[in-house]
Amino acid sequence: MAFKILALLTAFAAVSNAAITRRVTCPDGNTATNAACCVLFPIVQNLQTNLFDNGTCGDGAHAALRLSFHDAIGFSRTNSSFGTGADGSIFIFQNTELGFHANIGIDDAVAQETPLIKAVNGSISTADFIQLAAAVSLTNCPGTVRPTFMFGRKDATFPAPDGTVPEPFDSVTKILERMGDAGFSPAEVVAVLASHSIAGADNIDPNLVGLPFDSTPSTFDTQFFIETQLVGTTFPGTSGNQGEVAAPLQGELRLQSDFLLARDQRTACFWQANVNNQAHMARTFQSAFAKMQILGQEESDLIDCSEVIPIPAPFTGKGMLPAGFTRADVQQACRASPFPTLPTAPGPVTSVAAIPQS
Ligand code: HEM
Ligand SMILES: *[C@@H]1O[C@H](CO)[C@@H](O)[C@H](O)[C@H]1NC(C)=O
Ligand SMILES: *[C@@H]1O[C@H](CO)[C@@H](O)[C@H](O)[C@H]1NC(C)=O
Ligand SMILES: *[C@@H]1O[C@H](CO)[C@@H](O)[C@H](O)[C@H]1NC(C)=O
Repeated sequence: MAFKILALLTAFAAVSNAAITRRVTCPDGNTATNAACCVLFPIVQNLQTNLFDNGTCGDGAHAALRLSFHDAIGFSRTNSSFGTGADGSIFIFQNTELGFHANIGIDDAVAQETPLIKAVNGSISTADFIQLAAAVSLTNCPGTVRPTFMFGRKDATFPAPDGTVPEPFDSVTKILERMGDAGFSPAEVVAVLASHSIAGADNIDPNLVGLPFDSTPSTFDTQFFIETQLVGTTFPGTSGNQGEVAAPLQGELRLQSDFLLARDQRTACFWQANVNNQAHMARTFQSAFAKMQILGQEESDLIDCSEVIPIPAPFTGKGMLPAGFTRADVQQACRASPFPTLPTAPGPVTSVAAIPQS
């Protein structure tokens, strides 16, 4: 029912747009303002059906999003040998890049996308495919702002070297330096880390997979920024894993890097600003992510094909302390303003379920 209303609204929007902008009809019946974007509609459809389990924000969507970061961050503003950014190199030169420690687990995402990349048969670049898949993945996660999509990336001619991708056991200084070298301010680092609201770990605890970073890994909500600020007391499995620190909720995994960024004076207030501020989190993520998606590419050579990206489902819930937690469990880090006052979710203390693997 909701879907039918949405379809009607979308059809209406298309009709009223047509009155002001000349649109072309694509071979598959979709319409676009730029005919060059037509090639993308069937690819988007194929992604939704075959990579994202009919449009869900699950393991397939999470993996595609992480892959887009690990491809794009192979870039430096000061060193042209440090990769050429969002260039498909992680796929094209997978024999090299998948061997880097920071890319552990990326082989899954590459394996999942391989048949789909083969199916497009060079009609779009591999660089475009990886970033298109990530943009579409986000629309399956309620709470995102519709991502933009720029089209026409050039594929890599050489791999990114080791050391471009931050590790969860890196210091804040090292992470901010690496991200800064690629062009991201500390505020933008926090902005792109909203991605960890729809994420989990398969390769940190050697015995467990699908360990979510917050209690709602299929929703792009602010719980990640709330829960990373709570005192950590427990591990989903064993302790002592590199890059992991104690989490507040049973079943949840906390990365050391997220723990430190939430508490460091260079980033803590940006982190806290996302707490229960869905619009701020979604907007700052959208713009920093758009920047990430075209790293290393000549922006003026790209065509704006944002119109092929589906409209995400909204999220209207509110940020909450998990059941059993109070303000006393918040480790206040931002010195400029207090942590927002939040209600506590009702009921007994719960544990967080693992993310089903696709
Ligand atoms: C800046 C520092 C970052 C660090 C240190 C970091 C580290 C990690 C680690 C260790 C994992 C778990 C991998 C595994 O065990 O399987 C992970 C997962 C993930 N990361 Fe990040 N990350 C960072 C930034 C980002 C950014 C910028 C994005 C996207 C824009 C991103 C998206 C994801 C996603 C979606 C997952 C979940 C993957 C899945 O469930 O399959 N991360 N990250
Ligand atoms: C996707 O939908 C199709 C058609 O409704 C169905 O046959 C298929 O099992 C679904 N796949 C998943 C992973 O839910
Ligand atoms: C640039 O990056 C390459 C590849 O990692 C490295 O060998 C070289 O030392 C770097 N140059 C500078 C000036 O940092
Ligand atoms: C793939 O592209 C090549 C080069 O354009 C073409 O020769 C070939 O027939 C295409 N294959 C398929 C299955 O479409």
